[in-house]
Amino acid sequence: HGELITARTGMTIELTRALVRSSLKKRPGAAASIPTTTKPGDIVGAPDIDLVVELLGGLEPARTMVMDAIAADQSVVTANKAILAKHGNAIFRACDRSPADIHFEAAVAGGVPIIRTLREGLASDRINSINGILNGTTNFILSRMRRGAEYEEALAEAQRLGYAEADPTLDVNGRDAADKLAILIRLAFGTSVRVERIATRGITELTPKILADAKVLGCRVKLVASAWRASAINKKSSQDHIFACVQPTLVPIGHELSAVPGAQNAIRISSDSLGTTLYQGPGAGGMPTGSAVVADIIEAARSHRSGIRRNLGLPQMAAAPKLASYQDATSAFYVRLEVADQPGVLAEIAESFANFSVSLATVAQSRCELGATIVITTHPTSTTHVESALKAIRKRHRRVKRPCLLPILDAAE
Ligand code: HSE
Repeated sequence: HGELITARTGMTIELTRALVRSSLKKRPGAAASIPTTTKPGDIVGAPDIDLVVELLGGLEPARTMVMDAIAADQSVVTANKAILAKHGNAIFRACDRSPADIHFEAAVAGGVPIIRTLREGLASDRINSINGILNGTTNFILSRMRRGAEYEEALAEAQRLGYAEADPTLDVNGRDAADKLAILIRLAFGTSVRVERIATRGITELTPKILADAKVLGCRVKLVASAWRASAINKKSSQDHIFACVQPTLVPIGHELSAVPGAQNAIRISSDSLGTTLYQGPGAGGMPTGSAVVADIIEAARSHRSGIRRNLGLPQMAAAPKLASYQDATSAFYVRLEVADQPGVLAEIAESFANFSVSLATVAQSRCELGATIVITTHPTSTTHVESALKAIRKRHRRVKRPCLLPILDAAE
């Protein structure tokens, strides 16, 4: 869209040079006229380059190149969620000391302009909660598995289609979504969280039986990334808190996130003035990411032309809420257990939940090779309580097999 971009910016943007690991590798689709180099110094700090676009992924050498570019007063466009989640404070501080800016729309939710939405569209509002599907690969795998595909086969297809990270472990273990959530938390709540402190579970423990249970319960299983304000977790302190987690979640059919197909991403935001808004679209793959990268290049070009810096990192707010332990968060839960089919087993399980004040909403039992499969849903309760009850059940019934505990998303969240 070269002509369109020139018309919109009043400038011609030239791709000067591309850094490649190997100059021998064939790159079908890449214009032969683009000069390549294997030396970072030909780009980072080069006097003829105003803007560096970092699309390496991973922590190093990407972090060093980004920091070096900023130190050389070159603005940066990046799709790298890992460096922003882990080193965001250092990177944004470096931008404060430099005329350079960092643009990172492509780092979260692919082509969906969620960074601009939080930074600009919702700038006047107070965000109360974010619930999102932030990883296209896992959403694609779960959508396929729901239709009967095997996990491995669905993952291989996601890799073939270019949705997965170079190391797909980061997709399936939830780390990619946690990195993206950390970036959204910084923008939405002004809080800088250590990404390791976000309670994170991936999709590898999920089985077709769990997906089938969800269907019976009127839900779909999605990998949901959530952050929300905690209402007074500690009555003695006036400090505001937020909870944050990434985990497979039962989403009631009818909730917008339940219907997000394939590799799409979606983010549902609840804010004081605007109420609930939903942002959805292609979240992974070449063109969605490319569209966000080029939009950032245009934004950087406009800033360059006007000489006005945007200071896009947003400062850490002094009164920003702190991250609370997810153990104190409250939710309804789905529990699946396989037990010996003997008198009193169900009564003992129910008693263990009662001992930890967990109220059961539904109970269903069916036959399985071990004896009986018990599927329970609870009323909203604290994570600690339901986990403690499950621990007590496992201690009491050493033959409990394959227990699975997943939260159920509140239909209104
Ligand atoms: N691997 C990522 C995903 C790509 O599947 O969502 C976009 O960050």
